[in-house]
Amino acid sequence: MADIDYLKEKFLSDISQASDLEQLNEVKIAALGKKGAISEELSKLGKMDADERREAGQIINSVKQDLNFALTERHATLAKQALEKKLETEKIDVSLPSRPSVHAKIHPLSRTMEEISAIFSDMGFVIAEGPEIETDEHNFTALNIPPEHPARQEHDTFYLKPDDSGERPVLRTHTSPVQIRTMRSKEPPIRIIVPGRTYRSDHDATHSPMFHQCEGLVIGPNIHMGHLKATLIDFCRSFFGVVELPVRFRPSYFPFTEPSAEVDIGCSREDGGLKIGAGNNWLEILGSGMVNPRVLENCGYDPSTTQGFAFGMGIERLAMLKYGIPDLRTFYDSDLRWLHHYGFMPHDVAGLHTGIV
Ligand code: PHE
Repeated sequence: MADIDYLKEKFLSDISQASDLEQLNEVKIAALGKKGAISEELSKLGKMDADERREAGQIINSVKQDLNFALTERHATLAKQALEKKLETEKIDVSLPSRPSVHAKIHPLSRTMEEISAIFSDMGFVIAEGPEIETDEHNFTALNIPPEHPARQEHDTFYLKPDDSGERPVLRTHTSPVQIRTMRSKEPPIRIIVPGRTYRSDHDATHSPMFHQCEGLVIGPNIHMGHLKATLIDFCRSFFGVVELPVRFRPSYFPFTEPSAEVDIGCSREDGGLKIGAGNNWLEILGSGMVNPRVLENCGYDPSTTQGFAFGMGIERLAMLKYGIPDLRTFYDSDLRWLHHYGFMPHDVAGLHTGIV
């Protein structure tokens, strides 16, 4: 039994000297593991005679118990030490300044489109869409702009390669073709807005070859000029947030509306600054009119029973006026400093609250 006493002393000393849980586990395996020294002693019992086996068995089992006890105790001590060390090293210094957080910003164009959509959806309009590559028919002819019509020149159209039928598709020059698409596929009543991209070959501080418009179309049996005026006055006042905003309808011409009117809002231009809602100057902000009977006919409607009004506005222009952004080209520069200056926090847009003034 000299062996077992020696083993007991050796393992007890190894246990007390184990400096971490990993080392302790190694001692445990060396002593009590399947091939451990104590297990080996137990396996020798089989070869002994009965008396010898009883005596040796008792001794080995009591050593096993002692070692187990010592292992459990040491485990508790080492685990506690490990936890203390962890708490010590992972201590949070609450006096450290926080890391700067970078917020994404909503582009002023997205914000303006949300605002426009929110105001019109309060009035019962729904959003419609159409393709940016359009047929000549939808973009021009059906809108009462036949080939050789002078209005075609004003649009500085981007033409694409002719298709198999010899027709040249165009990048839509306005959102008005969605009027045609909607009227040809739906019965009145119609009350839509069409925010979307449009294209003209033009580039300076107030024009970009790609820009955004928002079209509006209302068709029904008794729609008249009074509805057009009320809708657009309410829109302008709500968008600019000025209850008494002066709004003026000035006779104009568009091939697809008759009569047509451009809408101006009151402003002042004193001291080099532009102030909306005050003073005695006017600023043009959108085009509108009663849908031309020819356009209604082109869409299969009977102009003697059905009529309506349409309007179109430039979204960049509205954003520039409302948020004081001087150069339209900067909208598309992807300059983060610009976006941080003119952009909006996401919750500003999510919580957009509008009402009709
Ligand atoms: N489509 C016109 C333009 O791009 C705007 C407009 C739309 C005018 C609807 C009247 C009615 O200038």
